[in-house]
Amino acid sequence: MYQNPPVLILGIETSCDETGVALYDAAAGRLLGHVVHSQVEMHQAYGGVVPELASRDHVRRLVPLARGLLARTGREVAELGAIAYTQGPGLVGALLVGASFAHALAAALGVPAIGIHHLEGHLLSPLLSSRRPVFPFVALLVSGGHTQLMRVAGVGRYELLGETQDDAAGEAFDKTATLLGLGYPGGPALSKLAEHGHAGRHRLPRPMIASGDLEFSFSGLKTAVLLLVKGADPNEQFRADVARAFQDAIVEVLVAKCALAMERTGLTQLVVAGGVGANRPLRAALDARGKSQGFDVIYPEPELCTDNGAMIALAAALRLQAGLAVGNAHGFTVRPRWDLAAAG
Ligand code: KG4
Ligand code: ZN
Repeated sequence: MYQNPPVLILGIETSCDETGVALYDAAAGRLLGHVVHSQVEMHQAYGGVVPELASRDHVRRLVPLARGLLARTGREVAELGAIAYTQGPGLVGALLVGASFAHALAAALGVPAIGIHHLEGHLLSPLLSSRRPVFPFVALLVSGGHTQLMRVAGVGRYELLGETQDDAAGEAFDKTATLLGLGYPGGPALSKLAEHGHAGRHRLPRPMIASGDLEFSFSGLKTAVLLLVKGADPNEQFRADVARAFQDAIVEVLVAKCALAMERTGLTQLVVAGGVGANRPLRAALDARGKSQGFDVIYPEPELCTDNGAMIALAAALRLQAGLAVGNAHGFTVRPRWDLAAAG
């Protein structure tokens, strides 16, 4: 009874603090539209994401966002051939909202509901941009919860090359931003403050830069900032100089590890995905290193760097085309912790 292969795929993302909905035409290989509601303002008052509030807001937003997107793209709900949703990793309550919405709609329509790994969405998202990578490539995933280097041989073929042993890069940005008295989310605010900072005024460690492997560690960097800030006069220039020192350190480590991954794999394309991929000094440094070392650096469109439903719909379409996706019309689980390399 399922449309085979499904043409129109609705993508749902509710793993954290963004409600994302997208409509992807799998036959044309084209994103018809997508919409994201960010909860940042709501969580700002608490200095971070409050899981229960996140879930409740997803409940409020999801149906109107999906209805609005269908209306805007001139499509009917009855035309949907599959419903894709983020199955994990993420906040369990938030994931459950997207999963139950997707399964209810799929059951009502008699179409498959397809659970997608959030990070698979991120690392395939550059395939939605005008400059598409070609398999195989190396992906740097740098988000609030993850810092990983992966070798991507094809859809569903991901090999973990290295990852952080403690804090994620985005988490380090956010925690350091808090130490500098900046609000949530800290990454963009810290980066903005660093623009006024002087390079080299403070020297911070480059954790694991010479470890000879592709592992990362960022928690020591945050501690080094804590020691620097403790007892110091927190004037504006000092804070900007510390922000600059932190950003320079983290960018240097990320670039060094990416360069090593390209050298080790012998591949020529590096895809950068996840929220930290929006960081401009990181982009500039990676581009420069790519030029000198002979690899291409490819980014998703800025609006697709952060969490969105488009990458979830795309991942489902590509998995279906590769014969990988498993539609399950009855019952579902979410996976708050989920290893992508083991997911297949
Ligand atoms: O991928 P994402 O939107 O959400 C997940 O964590 O899945 O990434 C969010 C992270 C946050 O830690 C945020 O501070 C960071 O990305 N971020 C940035 C920038 N924009 C977002 N970090 C540094 N510089 C930025 N411009
Ligand atoms: Zn994400």
